[in-house]
Amino acid sequence: MDVKSRNYLLMNRQALEKDIKTSYIMDRMISDEVLTLQEEEKVKQQNTQKERAAMLINIILKKDNNSYRSFYNALLHEGYRDLAALLQDGIPAISSGSGKSSMDGMTSYVKTVLCEGGVPQRPVVFVTRPKLVDAIKEKLCCLGSDPGWVTVYGMAGCGKTVLTAEALRDHQLLEDYFPGGVHWISVGKQDKAGLLIKLQNLCSRLEHDSTLSQRPPLNIEEAKDRLRLLMLRKYPRSLLILDDIWDSWVLKAFDNQCQVLITSRDRSVTDAVAGNKYEVHVESGLAHEKGLEILSLFVNMKISELPEQANCLVRECK
Ligand SMILES: Nc1ncnc2c1ncn2[C@@H]1O[C@H](COP(=O)(O)OP(=O)(O)OP(=O)(O)O)[C@@H](O)[C@H]1O
Ligand SMILES: [Mg+2]
Repeated sequence: MDVKSRNYLLMNRQALEKDIKTSYIMDRMISDEVLTLQEEEKVKQQNTQKERAAMLINIILKKDNNSYRSFYNALLHEGYRDLAALLQDGIPAISSGSGKSSMDGMTSYVKTVLCEGGVPQRPVVFVTRPKLVDAIKEKLCCLGSDPGWVTVYGMAGCGKTVLTAEALRDHQLLEDYFPGGVHWISVGKQDKAGLLIKLQNLCSRLEHDSTLSQRPPLNIEEAKDRLRLLMLRKYPRSLLILDDIWDSWVLKAFDNQCQVLITSRDRSVTDAVAGNKYEVHVESGLAHEKGLEILSLFVNMKISELPEQANCLVRECK
């Protein structure tokens, strides 16, 4: 489900739970083939009307755009016009080819998820490094739905940040493995006070649509607890990206049974945390041809038209 639609459900959750009676709504969703009989049974097993509504919403939150549309239509036709109106602006756009029309995986869904998650854009001059991007994607898939860490490591400036952001520009990966979205945090070298600010910012970002405005966490322990609950309850199956980690103690604040991708110059940075671990090594320096490609893009010439000195320049930059 699109992040925006999901947010509309979360934002209006209380009103929905308070008012809806689930049986007719579920009938419609079953006939739309977006809800199974087992899921209906699970909802029916709840004791109170409010608990049944809460369970149904939890189930829908894990589903796709069609389920959101079907739920919206059911509300509209079963006498809950006011509640349907609350969800109207969150109705996902119908895109051709299930939203996968873009050549390079940059569908509107991907754009929304990455923009909301704060993932950096491609540099203006950009060359592809498909093997490394695929290696990162493969490790992210290895995480499956279990908590764990993927470390992208390599020397300063070898392209870790750019490659990591590029690996996330993949509709299928995001939809299948991280339907809860992605959250990018540029960490850098920090002391305790700096880390607390990063955590406070992250918590306020993740709580942005909460009806109750919370005060920022006062210390790292509190922030860690807050983050754990947010990831568990509000953003299950999402990915945290911690860019540019220098010290392993920083990771303790994020050691919360969630799925994390980190970039670091230091391969051993995840040694102190628990869980499944995978790594991708980014070799330093681009291949000579890639260096020429970047130069040609900068000067707006074809590689074949570059003068002989271009080779010396690229070699000098290594
Ligand atoms: N595929 C690419 N195409 C073009 N430019 C790139 C590419 N990858 C990296 N760069 C450029 O190289 C520079 C360093 O890249 P990046 O920030 O990804 O490195 P890094 O390994 O994350 O560095 P650090 O260790 O300092 O965090 C940036 O200016 C970026 O624009
Ligand atoms: Mg970096």
